[in-house]
Amino acid sequence: MAEHTLEERFQAKIDAEIKIEPKDWMPDAYRKTLIRQISQHAHSEIVGMLPEGNWVTRAPSLRRKVALLAKVQDEAGHGLYLYSACETLGIDRDTLYEQLHSGKAKYSSIFNYPTLTWADIGAIGWLVDGAAIMNQVPLCRCSYGPYARAMVRVCKEESFHQRQGFEILLTLSKGTEGQQRMLQNAVDRWWWPSMMMFGPPDADSPNTQQSMKWKIKRFTNDELRQKFVDVCVDQAKVLNVTLPDPDLKWNEERGHYDFGEIDWEEFWNVVKGNGPCNKERLEARNKAWDDGAWVREAAVVHAEKRRAKKKIA
Ligand code: 3HC
Repeated sequence: MAEHTLEERFQAKIDAEIKIEPKDWMPDAYRKTLIRQISQHAHSEIVGMLPEGNWVTRAPSLRRKVALLAKVQDEAGHGLYLYSACETLGIDRDTLYEQLHSGKAKYSSIFNYPTLTWADIGAIGWLVDGAAIMNQVPLCRCSYGPYARAMVRVCKEESFHQRQGFEILLTLSKGTEGQQRMLQNAVDRWWWPSMMMFGPPDADSPNTQQSMKWKIKRFTNDELRQKFVDVCVDQAKVLNVTLPDPDLKWNEERGHYDFGEIDWEEFWNVVKGNGPCNKERLEARNKAWDDGAWVREAAVVHAEKRRAKKKIA
């Protein structure tokens, strides 16, 4: 029998839906693209806390404050989960943090937009977490075990995030004229950047084809974006809000909604660091890192003392 190469045996496991685990042999390129995607995912969760954290002290009621606080704490947990999954691939957490704080690492472009009103917090829950769910549910079936398992817990919490956001908007949609205008204004500002969360068109994506072959991705960028649009159009009707796309219309032949052109120049501009809040987000992350140095140092000293005590005992 012809000697199957390591790559062939690896791809046969992928094709047979056998999860790849940290100790399994894997092509360097598979490891590299997982470190790339999982680290950026983790960075997105951590940076994603910032736009919402801005409204914890401004929430209109104790109930809204508690829900938002819980969501922001969840995002921190998602980030730590994903950094742990990333570490199983052989990269250490300090390196990941350094990549984020130095501006070398990417994180989702969506978090470089400002949260101007309370309705933005609802729009983030409905649209941003809604897009995240669309993207993350298939990742529960990702070929890399630690990533897939991390996603199961993350997705359960994302559903609460999306629902609390939708409920904020539903409340505003039944409110005063001013609240309805605030709602529409937020959706106008968050709709197109949410569409960009799924990545560039498949034709311009250097990673999608290989990620589909390795079953890291189960759907392409365009397929997930289309699913997202199809779901949001009906939800927007419940909110009595107009999605800011005059080309949005049902296409019976395709069985999907057609939608307008996405501004990919804006997308790449934000990805390259020139979005409305890129600088502010990195400054906030670096300040938080510096302000937290004493906690990390105290934890290390405490751990060393405990180890020394154990040795003596
Ligand atoms: N923001 C920033 N960079 C993006 C991007 C976005 N929205 N979409 C794509 N890119 C980058 C990619 O990272 C890639 O650059 P790289 O090769 O230097 O990494 C380049 O643009 C080309 O994109 P590809 O489509 O070829 O890249 P991928 O195959 O990695 O697909 C992705 C992009 C769909 C975002 C994929 O990485 C993915 O599914 N990641 C996991 C999910 C994720 O990160 N979601 C981000 C939001 S998390 C979130 O919203 C949390 C919620 O709780 C709020």
